[in-house]
Amino acid sequence: KTELLKITDIEQQQELLRQAGACIRQGGLVVFPTETVYGLGANGLDETACRRIFEAKGRPSDNPLILTVADRQGAEQISDHISPLAEKLMARFWPGPLTLVLPRRSCVPDVATGGLDTVAVRCPDHDICRAFLQYAQVPVAGPSANLSTRPSPTTAAEALHDMDGRVQMIIDGGACHIGVESTIVECTAADEVTILRPGGITPEMLAEVAAKVVLDTHLVSGKGVPKAPGMKYRHYAPEAPVQAFVGSEQAVIEAVQTAYTEAKAAGKTVGFLLSREVATQVGAPHTFIWGHHGDAAALANKLYTGLLFFDKERVDLILAEGVQAVGLGLAVMNRLKKAAGGHVQAV
Ligand code: TXA
Ligand code: MG
Repeated sequence: KTELLKITDIEQQQELLRQAGACIRQGGLVVFPTETVYGLGANGLDETACRRIFEAKGRPSDNPLILTVADRQGAEQISDHISPLAEKLMARFWPGPLTLVLPRRSCVPDVATGGLDTVAVRCPDHDICRAFLQYAQVPVAGPSANLSTRPSPTTAAEALHDMDGRVQMIIDGGACHIGVESTIVECTAADEVTILRPGGITPEMLAEVAAKVVLDTHLVSGKGVPKAPGMKYRHYAPEAPVQAFVGSEQAVIEAVQTAYTEAKAAGKTVGFLLSREVATQVGAPHTFIWGHHGDAAALANKLYTGLLFFDKERVDLILAEGVQAVGLGLAVMNRLKKAAGGHVQAV
């Protein structure tokens, strides 16, 4: 029952995007591409439609949704307090992978915000997505299009795997460019932003606009209650346990070889999620290469696909190579650490 709309030419295929927009207005669910990951869309101002998102994903109801808008006016539709700093962030980073937590208007239903008095707003940098949003004519609630606790989909095929039969339509716009979810920030003072979830817009980039950039204390210590409710759940978890290593090429090669020897002795089938340089030296079967050693953008792009790959390979353990947690690496390592249940080792 799920209809797949493959878009290769926006101009020629306006009619399909118009149908997808109409489906949203009628209360339906439509999976759509963005530059980060695929989203699971519903009319963000319709309580019943938002409820369907939670059902389709199996998502806990206290985990609020991001509302996706085509432009700044879309943000004004759902928030009436946009601070000067929030204005500056939008002007600098929209469209793009930055989600702003803003005071909400009463038109936003409680289900969408998990009862909070704020709403998360995002304007994706993706032509197909924005054309779809324009046809929808309403803010589109759009969490990642995975079943709760599974890795976020970065291709339409991965979204179909989780959402087949649960949604009316899937818009296939090809692979997502970034591959990890947007940065979520809240303006916590006139010149200060707090990062609730690291993503494609790095702390360094935010510092170009805000005098002070701080990380939510939960992100730093793992303790306390995270300001983004979703950050407390086990996320991005493949079926096999993951053990990750970060360090120089040589150090990672040695650590992976040692862990491999141990796992083999215990009779385990091992999967490897490695850089090309390390993979070449380890030379084992069941290897997924994500890119060159140290390249955070490449790991961001391939991390979820790599984790999903090993669900199909049926391995008992995944040995993964990470990157330094700076720049985009902060976001990637945040996700890898969750996938590994904290088992990330500096070597
Ligand atoms: O890149 C992205 O942001 C993707 C694409 C599809 O746009 N969407 C996404 O949505 O990652 P989701 O639902 O998987 O993650 C939303 C996160 C959750 O951690 C949620 O707790 C947080 O945003 N969030 C939503 N509303 C919030 C609010 N009012 N205050 C704090 N955190 C909020
Ligand atoms: Mg998600």
